[in-house]
Amino acid sequence: MTKAVEETIVSTNPVRIGVVGVGGMGGRHARNLAREVAAAKVTAVMDVDVTTLAKVGDECGADLRFSDANALIAHADVDAVLIAAPDRFHADLAKRCIAAGKPVLCEKPLATTAAEARTVIDAEVAGGKRLVQLGFMREYDPAHVAVKRICDSGELGRVLVFRGMHNGLSDGRPRTIEDVITNSAIHDIHSARWLMDEEIVRVYASVIPAAADRPDTARFVFVQLHFADGALGLVDCNVDSGYGYEVDVQITGERGMAETNSLCSAGVRQSNSRRQWVEDNWLQRFDTAYVAEVREWVNSIVHAQPSGPSAWDGYVSMLVADACIRSAKSGAAVDIEIPARPEIYG
Ligand SMILES: NC(=O)c1ccc[n+]([C@@H]2O[C@H](COP(=O)([O-])OP(=O)(O)OC[C@H]3O[C@@H](n4cnc5c(N)ncnc54)[C@H](O)[C@@H]3O)[C@@H](O)[C@H]2O)c1
Repeated sequence: MTKAVEETIVSTNPVRIGVVGVGGMGGRHARNLAREVAAAKVTAVMDVDVTTLAKVGDECGADLRFSDANALIAHADVDAVLIAAPDRFHADLAKRCIAAGKPVLCEKPLATTAAEARTVIDAEVAGGKRLVQLGFMREYDPAHVAVKRICDSGELGRVLVFRGMHNGLSDGRPRTIEDVITNSAIHDIHSARWLMDEEIVRVYASVIPAAADRPDTARFVFVQLHFADGALGLVDCNVDSGYGYEVDVQITGERGMAETNSLCSAGVRQSNSRRQWVEDNWLQRFDTAYVAEVREWVNSIVHAQPSGPSAWDGYVSMLVADACIRSAKSGAAVDIEIPARPEIYG
């Protein structure tokens, strides 16, 4: 098919998207799809908050508005679904999309436990084809992509060490160890697997609780990673940085080092001081990544060629996350058994 024919098909038949959960992240995805992706049309939105639903529905020109996700998934005017509801709903919603045979971009994490994530893998494998993409958007961040290219080019030699730094602001509510690891550090776990192109087989995790009398919580998670090929890694995830949101990685190889340099605001020297503005949150830090992520997702649907992070990546990251939780609670290193990868994941 020529490019011109493809473009005509795309412009006359945009992929009709339904977005489930249109809060901070889902609202951004819906607006990006509506405004930045010519091959997509947001036809439907669903949320349990009627005010948010109306606002985002109006902004995106989505005529179909639902309070029930199943009705959105089943609707004939929805070709594909973006899931950005709270974490605990992801696995069930993803399986409903698989049962309906509709491609889905599911926000991370795939599930809240590895066992639950496995049920999504089993459903997708039973259907015989990849339908799920996971919202690990760092794969679309230009700074991370540049580091990945250098690692894959071989110019660093064998990659030996991953270091991931993830700092965020707290809303004041203490977060459980489980939540910090499965909701925040899960990005760093995936980032380590993706950039090192190797599986993590052992973790040793330690936490600093959010308060002395709340040992079930974490404000800081520190994880030592062991990769299958002998490489090492360190994830340092601080969810109460007190100064802003910052994510960076550094990869050490046999012949050098590659690192992201995420701060791109102007450096200012003034009044005997030097300062640089730091982003507030992920929506600012990863704004271009979110646009590229949904654009490539829609492109993969148009061409019927699934790409990007898969449900398998979501599942294996959850296996590592579960091991981190066990390690943080037991104070011991935990080994991870990675099962055989089903054929549909290449
Ligand atoms: N990839 C990333 O960088 C990134 C960043 C932030 C959040 N996220 C993920 O996106 C998801 C949403 O996070 P958020 O920050 O937008 O939270 P949010 O609280 O701002 O939005 C969640 C929305 O879901 C709605 N909701 C609640 N119950 C629902 C249900 N049963 N069905 C559908 N919608 C429901 C809420 O009313 C709200 O509008 C989470 O899973 C989170 O982990 C990913």
